[in-house]
Amino acid sequence: MSTTIITGATSGLGLKTARLLASTYPKDTFIITSRKLASAQVVAKDFPNMIPLSVDLSETPSIQRFMANIKQRHSKIDGIIANAGSQYVKPTLNSQGVEATFATNVLGQYLLIHGLQSMLTDDARIILVSSDTHDRHKFTGMPNPQYLSPALLADEEGSSKIIKHRSAAQLGQIRYTSSKLAVIYLVHAFAKNDINHTYVSFNPGFMPGKDSGLARDYSPVAKWVLTNVFPLMRFVLPKFVHTVKQSSQNLVKVYTNSQLKSGEYWDGDRVIPSSDESYDTDRESELWQYLSTLDNRNR
Ligand SMILES: NC(=O)c1ccc[n+]([C@@H]2O[C@H](COP(=O)([O-])OP(=O)(O)OC[C@H]3O[C@@H](n4cnc5c(N)ncnc54)[C@H](OP(=O)(O)O)[C@@H]3O)[C@@H](O)[C@H]2O)c1
Repeated sequence: MSTTIITGATSGLGLKTARLLASTYPKDTFIITSRKLASAQVVAKDFPNMIPLSVDLSETPSIQRFMANIKQRHSKIDGIIANAGSQYVKPTLNSQGVEATFATNVLGQYLLIHGLQSMLTDDARIILVSSDTHDRHKFTGMPNPQYLSPALLADEEGSSKIIKHRSAAQLGQIRYTSSKLAVIYLVHAFAKNDINHTYVSFNPGFMPGKDSGLARDYSPVAKWVLTNVFPLMRFVLPKFVHTVKQSSQNLVKVYTNSQLKSGEYWDGDRVIPSSDESYDTDRESELWQYLSTLDNRNR
């Protein structure tokens, strides 16, 4: 009987994936998370094999409490689906002054996974949810990433002066696409630094519609268009626009695939190379070093 952590399981991809896994594998345990314990409890009430817990990935103390909680209650972890992610289009900092999209999508993922490594079983799989928006050569409707040093990505004010953007919303989107590029550096670095476990990135594809809350920080008009107009595009562009249900089925296929190889990038249900830029080993090492230093400082 295995134990899997699924972060961000109260909405969108995480919610559908958690429900699908918990109903397909009733003997296995799924630790599901939300920033609000009550929201995770609502999801878990229909599934005796779900354990609801709270963690805010943008806040280091919250991650530390979550890890202590897990270590107290469980002896091993067989897998992590690091799905939770945010896209802030209004300037937002965490309580330590770190830009919130970077704090949640990059620093938080690193702290959580690194902190739980000692509990991982030999064949544990760790899936980090990235996005094809990390790739400047793919049309995704989002602005290209503008990758900076990690210290600048974490610095809302400093990076605002360097990132070229047309509007505040676009600046937020660029932070998001850059964070998803950083997630792939993280996967490559984890794969190199921990050869005992399997780390892969997963791109769910564009999932507009009411099931996803990723645009919660957008203006009311932009939110309305994303919820009501963009989902219709899947009838014209089925390869480009996905439903959350389709992407959750792909994520479950990837997570339960026993042939995964560490470092792979899964685009839905197939392995493809991620962007050329995502194989930059200097950036990868710099990010790894930066996150390790922050982690050590907080211990
Ligand atoms: N939607 C898309 O088109 C799309 C495309 C490519 C990639 N993705 C990626 O796919 C993943 C899921 O996206 P989605 O559309 O399902 O998003 P979503 O509906 O907004 O769900 C995000 C989940 O993450 C949790 N979350 C948000 N901020 C958090 C934080 N600081 N700490 C802990 N949990 C947090 C939320 O839980 P609570 O609010 O309950 O805390 C929620 O359950 C994300 O990583 C996203 O970047 C999405």
